[in-house]
Amino acid sequence: MAEISLRVNGAEYALSIDTRTSLLDLLREHLGLTGTKKGCDHGQCGACTVLIDGRRSNACLALAVAHDGAEVTTVEGLADDGRPHPLQAAFMELDAFQCGYCTPGQLCSAAGMLGERGPSAVTDDLTADPPLTREEIRERMSGNLCRCGAYVNIVAAIEEVGR
Ligand code: FES
Ligand code: FES
Repeated sequence: MAEISLRVNGAEYALSIDTRTSLLDLLREHLGLTGTKKGCDHGQCGACTVLIDGRRSNACLALAVAHDGAEVTTVEGLADDGRPHPLQAAFMELDAFQCGYCTPGQLCSAAGMLGERGPSAVTDDLTADPPLTREEIRERMSGNLCRCGAYVNIVAAIEEVGR
């Protein structure tokens, strides 16, 4: 067992956990924050994406004990005082989800991605910050799978917010 502290969606938690606990299980099972979904539990689908200290991460691959003192944001923490995050509003406006199972991870991943800088694997000019084209969005969001195939509208929603 280990004693750790975490700040999750603005609230402080002091926790006593088994050192094998993933951040995903801690969020869902210990804190009751079930917005973050468990898809593959192997780092392959992106359903569990959260922000750790502002950077997107797969919570299923993150050992909670390795993030003692971290600031974590889940989909429940994206809204501001009851107002939906611009990405959440755009997803609703543009019908960017169907079953919604992948949506929490898509939203957290997009929120982290919009703050990232630098080239990706599809960037031609490696010396400049690339424009947020649909191709760039697809590449940068490629770690988040949607089995319903809502990709077209997900890309459109992210593009709208990233303008
Ligand atoms: S549940 Fe973490 S990547 Fe699939
Ligand atoms: S909306 Fe169904 S898996 Fe993405």
